[in-house]
Amino acid sequence: MRNKLILISGGAGFIGSHLCDYYVSEGNNVWCIDNLCTGRISNIEHLLKEQKFKFIEADIISLDINSIKEHFDMVFHLASPASPPDYFRLPLETLKVNSLGTEKMLEIARKCNAKFLFSSTSEVYGDPLVSPQKEDYWGNVNPVGPRSVYDEGKRYGEAIVMAYHRKYRVDTRIIRIFNTYGERMRLDDGRVIPNFISQLLQGNPLTIYGDGRQTRSFCYISDLINGIVKMMEIDFHFPVNLGNPEEFTILQLAELLQKITGKKAIIQFLPALEDDPKQRRPDISRAKQLLNWQPVVQLEEGLRKTLKYFQSIPIPSPGADKGVK
Ligand SMILES: NC(=O)c1ccc[n+]([C@@H]2O[C@H](COP(=O)([O-])OP(=O)(O)OC[C@H]3O[C@@H](n4cnc5c(N)ncnc54)[C@H](O)[C@@H]3O)[C@@H](O)[C@H]2O)c1
Repeated sequence: MRNKLILISGGAGFIGSHLCDYYVSEGNNVWCIDNLCTGRISNIEHLLKEQKFKFIEADIISLDINSIKEHFDMVFHLASPASPPDYFRLPLETLKVNSLGTEKMLEIARKCNAKFLFSSTSEVYGDPLVSPQKEDYWGNVNPVGPRSVYDEGKRYGEAIVMAYHRKYRVDTRIIRIFNTYGERMRLDDGRVIPNFISQLLQGNPLTIYGDGRQTRSFCYISDLINGIVKMMEIDFHFPVNLGNPEEFTILQLAELLQKITGKKAIIQFLPALEDDPKQRRPDISRAKQLLNWQPVVQLEEGLRKTLKYFQSIPIPSPGADKGVK
């Protein structure tokens, strides 16, 4: 696929910047809209000199869509704070970018007759009562807890995507992303992998919220990008889980990172966070069947690459580290 015009909201963020890289490298024209509230210019700096890449610093929420005259072939809506400290700090912005913001991006896709993709999350399953989670599980979400701005924002986002598909026949897709990690995450973004790496690199204790027996599954960024690209190529409008089904406890992750960094650390147990899910593991049979996709990067290999990246950038001053995800 070459020479398509592609719009990516949140393209200066962790996942979005890798998606921009992919489509530019395949010979397409990519427009990235981002207000940099959690993303960084350094993630896309190397693309700014490319003729096929355009960066627009703007907030999707207040975007005047009538000012957009281009005819996009694909629209990706990734813009949203994604780590707990980010959405605790930006609660209303998180709700709005997933509601009003999703509507605006859908309107652009509708105007252009473009393919549309919404990046939803495993958080729509809340603290799940079944494991692994399949797409037809409706979830166990607290609608008024501190995480609800994100979980309910994404649930509304999915609902409006389906409404645009049903009412206007917009060619939509919904992916539910499970914890993804890799190069260009922020070391201080509060997610568990950057948290642990930052603590190990600084010789600090590893902080674990709860008893550390809560499980997560971690997908390396290149596997996720591969899945997103494949998703755009099929004709399927209901949600599809994208994540790595291999499950690890937070304690196992702490051990593995100590092995990889060669640094031993004391583990400091802190009280469990409100509504922190006890288990999180995708059932990816739908993605396997529809996309012929499954993650191929082993956790240890992905963590080694991520560590190398973090070792190459300056360590930010101690900041938010709450909100293990
Ligand atoms: N990383 C994960 O593990 C994960 C898991 C589930 C879902 N997701 C979803 O994937 C998407 C990308 O997540 P990420 O991990 O790359 O996070 P990120 O914070 O690195 O990227 C989000 C980007 O969106 C931008 N943004 C936020 N609000 C905006 C607005 N109103 N207008 C313009 N730009 C705005 C931010 O500046 C940032 O560059 C999000 O929608 C997130 O909910 C990510």
